[in-house]
Amino acid sequence: MDVLLSGQIDFKLRPGSGEPLTRQLYGQLRATILAGALPPGYRLPSSRDLARQLGISRNTVSFVVDQLAMEGYLDVAQGRRPTVAAAANAQLVSGRTPIRRSPMPLRVSHWGARLLKADWPFVNEGDPRPFLPGLADARAFPHDLWARYLRRAARNALASGTMALNRPALQAALLQHLLEHRGVRAQRRQIIVTPTAQAAIELIARVLLDVGDVAWVESPGYGGARAALEAAGAVVRGVELDRSGLSFKGRRDRPRLIFVTPSHQYPTGRLMPINRRRELLAFAGTVGAAIVEDDYDSEFHYDGRPVAALQGLDDSGRVFYVGTFSKSTFADVRTGYVIVPVGLVEVFEKAQRHSGQIVPALLQNALAGFVADGHFSAHIRRMTRVYRARRDRLVQALHAAAGDALKIVPPAGGMQLLAHLDPRWDDVALANRLARAGVVARPLSRHMIGGRTERGLFLGFAAWNDREIDAAAVLIGRVMRHGAYVPKQPSARSSAGGSRDQ
Ligand SMILES: Cc1ncc(COP(=O)(O)O)c(C=O)c1O
Repeated sequence: MDVLLSGQIDFKLRPGSGEPLTRQLYGQLRATILAGALPPGYRLPSSRDLARQLGISRNTVSFVVDQLAMEGYLDVAQGRRPTVAAAANAQLVSGRTPIRRSPMPLRVSHWGARLLKADWPFVNEGDPRPFLPGLADARAFPHDLWARYLRRAARNALASGTMALNRPALQAALLQHLLEHRGVRAQRRQIIVTPTAQAAIELIARVLLDVGDVAWVESPGYGGARAALEAAGAVVRGVELDRSGLSFKGRRDRPRLIFVTPSHQYPTGRLMPINRRRELLAFAGTVGAAIVEDDYDSEFHYDGRPVAALQGLDDSGRVFYVGTFSKSTFADVRTGYVIVPVGLVEVFEKAQRHSGQIVPALLQNALAGFVADGHFSAHIRRMTRVYRARRDRLVQALHAAAGDALKIVPPAGGMQLLAHLDPRWDDVALANRLARAGVVARPLSRHMIGGRTERGLFLGFAAWNDREIDAAAVLIGRVMRHGAYVPKQPSARSSAGGSRDQ
């Protein structure tokens, strides 16, 4: 039925429509008040009269009036008709305030604006297709065994019901693993557990950097770190590499933070030898800089002996050791960690709480058991054999498919390799063509941060079996042969890698 109330409200109640009458009446009355059709102080008919006019029960009307009174839209008093509350309509709050027809738009903070500006590639985002870098082989993970640990952790979580921050059991198991395999030096409580390594880098940037502070990153280097540092307001400077990694001698600028991947440089795969590590530590000590050591995939080492972490050499408490389970187990486990200097544990725990960067207790406890019982090490041992064979397979397959056009030094570890291209190749254009053919390849030029530009394709080999590796390598060869050789245009944009699709 349609009822025009005092010439003001056109109620359209539909009994039998499936929607309860209380909800219909509530919605229409509230919308009318919000729209300003009933001014503050407007007196509604009594519940009895309104029920009669609408042809519905008084109970329905009383229920709706009480609800709207409770929410502040109506004022009700014993024995008086309900009136529209003064503040019910935001546009008419004071009665005299002019109605603002075009509300002021929201604006994002400087931090938000910096985030929007940063478009550096997060390498492991995208379709899980060969050769997406940074992706572990989730198919090879012992999921049934893992499920047992999850189940057990779920039962215990229900029993204890505790708030999780950094679970001591996981800290202890992880520390034991890192002491044995990566040569770190730390106490258990220095391990901060985060939902990814990226989250750890973000926390470090927030805690250590102020707007305008200088941060050094490797060039070529990891875009995720650059993005987090830039968002924090740092002036990010790319530092070129020589054969030993970060080459900083002779630089006059003074960083507050230095981000490095010394055990397996990202993306070149280079190893920073002991001399350079010591020089870096000494330099950082002189200028008071923090060093962020991103040890993202050093669990997998194929040739020679793995080199211990830089953090283990640090006597002055300035190295932050970042790691992640997303490479050593599978991507969706989404758990990373950072060993922070002992004096900064408190501020990092507070930063975790404030930003909510906390890994569920369920996951932490499951991981703790999985690591402590030796399954984590066993998985790494098994996958090291598998990944080494895949690395070799990809090197061979690329050689067969593209010959000398791709220059590859097989990496001694990790999950991806870099194939250098002759500088006349436009690696971004090539990567775009490969993407259209169904192959993921990250162009090296997009990892350069200021200075010189190098060309190449960065290819992850860990997550794909021999058949998939061979097929995708053949496609790379085909795309490179059939017209994908794009002589670089001499343009101002060329040093940024031309097109930005990749
Ligand atoms: C060098 C480097 N550091 C950190 C990460 C991030 O790891 P997570 O997925 O745990 O954030 C990646 C991911 O690919 C990486 O390549």
